[in-house]
Amino acid sequence: MNIGILTAGGDSPGLNAAIRAIGKSAIRTYDMQVIGFLDGFRGLMQNRMIRLNSAQLSGILTVGGTILGTSRDKPHKMDVGGTEMDMTGLMIENCLEHQLDVLVCLGGGGTQKNALRLHQQGFPVVTLPKTIDNDVWGTDATFGFDTALSIATEAIDRVHSTAHSHHRIMLVEVMGHNAGWLALGAGLAGGADVILIPEIPYDVQVIADAISVRRAAGSSFSIIAVSEGARSVETDLQMQGLREIVETAEGDTRKEAKAALSALDASLEGNTHRLADQLEELTGLEARVTILGHVQRGGIPSAVDRLLATRLGTAAVEFIAAGERGVMVATQGGHTVTVPLEEVAGKRQVVPPDHRWVKSARTLGVSFGQ
Ligand code: F6P
Repeated sequence: MNIGILTAGGDSPGLNAAIRAIGKSAIRTYDMQVIGFLDGFRGLMQNRMIRLNSAQLSGILTVGGTILGTSRDKPHKMDVGGTEMDMTGLMIENCLEHQLDVLVCLGGGGTQKNALRLHQQGFPVVTLPKTIDNDVWGTDATFGFDTALSIATEAIDRVHSTAHSHHRIMLVEVMGHNAGWLALGAGLAGGADVILIPEIPYDVQVIADAISVRRAAGSSFSIIAVSEGARSVETDLQMQGLREIVETAEGDTRKEAKAALSALDASLEGNTHRLADQLEELTGLEARVTILGHVQRGGIPSAVDRLLATRLGTAAVEFIAAGERGVMVATQGGHTVTVPLEEVAGKRQVVPPDHRWVKSARTLGVSFGQ
């Protein structure tokens, strides 16, 4: 059998561990030939690939990023110099040229959708869930999340002493896109006083009150873990309204609502700074912002991520050898399972407002600004 591998979307710690696991087990145990396409779906479309052998797969377990490179390109929207050619068709042609039996796509939510398109057009795929956001539907965990969680937690740990010394409000902005897993996990593990996540829209006055209550009780500093997608109740209502229009309307109305929604989403950039200004005004305390950014995605993967990526990678090859196609290999309740891509694509696993981490935080008196 011949298999191809590609990594797509934002990179994530553990990708190389997964590539190594897929490649080594395919070659060693199943005598398969393995090739890697470079830079995600773009490389597949441009037929840029390398043959992966045991030597190339050695020494990469602990390396961050992806040896194959990645891109955020959406195959069906890719600009390849004005050609009208069907991009998915072109990708399938390239897979066939290399006599591939299966293409393994490692990625987050967007990759699951793109892989399903390929599968529906007739080319067999299997996927693995990776992202630091932990928001892929159908799996209990995605590799990359654990490493990012440790980095964000350490950052929150570290701002404590400076917040305490200066009697300041420290806002630590954590990645996660529109899912609050990272901010919630790091906020809880790092002992944040306020945690703001997209799933629980906030009222800035409620946050200010929580800080004032802390101050009255003798704590002159406060740590706020802010998810990059966190939003106020007002913004959230606006977004909900627009989402409803996008789902129900057609034509120009839908187009306009979609554009307004993207603009609103983009306007969340800079929100943590605006929030800091508002809190300074409302509490009379100084506030400082730390934006963690891509530091959370870089560097050596944690042992947990290496284990997850390795387990899912080797399992993927076993499932492929057993004839499974059109599925994502996932972890559910400690078991390694396959989930049909039709069920995964287009959905996102966000934080349920009654999740055990949320409950635990509330019990400890953490404010969600609600
Ligand atoms: O999906 C992973 C992620 O790191 C998100 O948390 C973040 O919003 C986004 O990628 C950043 O993307 P980019 O690296 O393209 O700026």
